[in-house]
Amino acid sequence: MKQLYGVIGNPIGHSLSPHMHNDAFAALGIDAHYHAFAIEEEKLGDAVKGFKAIGLSGFNVTTPHKVNIMQYLDEIDELARQIGAVNTVVNRDGKLIGYNTDGIGYVRSLQSISKEPLHQKRILIIGAGGASRAIFFTLASMGVAAVDIANRTLEKAAELIGSCRYSIQAEALTMQQAQDRHHEYDIIIQTTTLGMYPHVQDTPLQLQQLKEGAIVSDIIYNPRQTALLQAAQQHGAVIQNGIDMFVYQGAMAFEMWTSQWPDVERMKQIVITKLGG
Ligand code: ATR
Repeated sequence: MKQLYGVIGNPIGHSLSPHMHNDAFAALGIDAHYHAFAIEEEKLGDAVKGFKAIGLSGFNVTTPHKVNIMQYLDEIDELARQIGAVNTVVNRDGKLIGYNTDGIGYVRSLQSISKEPLHQKRILIIGAGGASRAIFFTLASMGVAAVDIANRTLEKAAELIGSCRYSIQAEALTMQQAQDRHHEYDIIIQTTTLGMYPHVQDTPLQLQQLKEGAIVSDIIYNPRQTALLQAAQQHGAVIQNGIDMFVYQGAMAFEMWTSQWPDVERMKQIVITKLGG
C-alpha cells in the first residue's frame, strides 16, 4: 500500500517540501506520497489523532506548530527535547516519535562545505531565536569546543547559552562585540531575519576582515545572496545560503522515514527551480 507522509503548518501553501520529497520518493522507487496539510492551531491535537488513525508514516512540522506538537507525541528524542521544538515525526509501529532535524540538517550542510571537521573551529552564531537554538544545541551535543552567540538583545543570547545542558565553551556577545571580533572566527552563522526580502540591504555585520579560509553561512534563502554573503564573498570567504539547511533538514527526515539517504543535489535543484531558478 502507498505510504503517506506530510508536512503540517499554517500557512503551508508555498511549502517546497512536497516537491522535494515526492521527487525523492520517485527517484528511489519508493511507493509513497507527501502532502502539505494546513492545520489551525486549535485543531492540532485532532490532526495528530487523525494521522495516527490513518497510519500516516511520518510528517514534518513547521510554523506555528513546532513547540505545541510536542504534547501530542508519544516520545521525544533527547536533542529535540533540549531544543524544545520538533520538526520531524516518525510513526514507529503506531507510536509517534518527535525529532528535530533543523540543527542536525544544518550541521550536515555545514560539514558538506567545510574541508576540516568542525570540532576545533571557532564559531560565531548571530541571533538567539529558534533557529539559533537548534544550531547551537546541535553543535554543543556534537562536542564542538567553542561557539559564541551575538544578539541584539544580549540577555537572550546569555539565556540560550545558560539553558544548554551539553558542555560547551560559549560567550554571549553584543552586536558591537561581534563587529569588533568577527575576524577571529572560522565560521560565522547568520540566523536573524536581517537581510531577508524585502529588506535586502540590511546586514548584522559590516565585514572588514575575515579569517583566512573563513566560512560565512546565512540561513536566509530569499534573497539567495544576502548583503552579508555578498560582502563575505568579496572578502574571500566560502559562503553558503539557507537552501542547504532547508534541503539537509528534509534529507535527514527522509532518511529517518525510509532508511535511505536521498540525492541532496537533486533535492537542491528542485528547490532552486521552484524558487525561480
Ligand atoms: P527564528 O525562530 O526564525 O530564529 P526568532 O525567534 O523570531 O526567529 O528570532 C529572530 C532573531 O533575529 C533574534 O535573534 C532577533 O534578535 P532579538 O532577540 O534582539 O529580537 C533577531 N533580529 C530580528 N530583527 C532584528 C534586527 N532588526 N536587528 C538585529 N537583530 C534582529
